Amino acid sequence: MVDSFEDLEEEINSCTACQLHDSAIHKVIMKGGQNPKVLFIGEAPGKKEDASGIPFCGRAGKILDGMIEDMDLQQSDWAVINTVKCRPPNNRRPRKEELAACRAFFEQQIEMLEPDVIILLGNTAEEAFLGNRQLQWGECRDIDGKNVVKFYHPAALIYTKSRQPEQQEFIEKNSALW
Ligand code: URA
Repeated sequence: MVDSFEDLEEEINSCTACQLHDSAIHKVIMKGGQNPKVLFIGEAPGKKEDASGIPFCGRAGKILDGMIEDMDLQQSDWAVINTVKCRPPNNRRPRKEELAACRAFFEQQIEMLEPDVIILLGNTAEEAFLGNRQLQWGECRDIDGKNVVKFYHPAALIYTKSRQPEQQEFIEKNSALW
């Protein structure tokens, strides 16, 4: 366990624990405040994120930005991380062994960020956080004193416009949490 975000970043940047680092341009670590109320957990960096080193800076990121705005969160109130820090080839889902290789970093980030609310964006985030699928879409559960909520990954909302009312409903239903 490291003591600072800088040390953690250094460890992540020098990681070669799985094959994903071979093709990654950048490790994509986190975006947002270091003491957030709400932590969003995505899946893995995409092409733009790999090129820039910044999570959720592409199309899915625009959807997430809109959600953050609708949630009325200030800049320091939220942060976003991914289950793995390197882009999987062709944006495929991270494999079990890749999630396992990145697990210690993922857990350290959550421990250091100490969010009150964790929003799991999609099935991969849920599986990485809980070990398996347990939650319904939009369901909130108290897990070790944190409110953990599962919601659609923003990329799923790009193509499925019919889910956008569900996003508003999700925000209205859960707004007391943040
Ligand atoms: N999708 C993710 O899950 N994470 C990103 O950083 C970008 C797109």
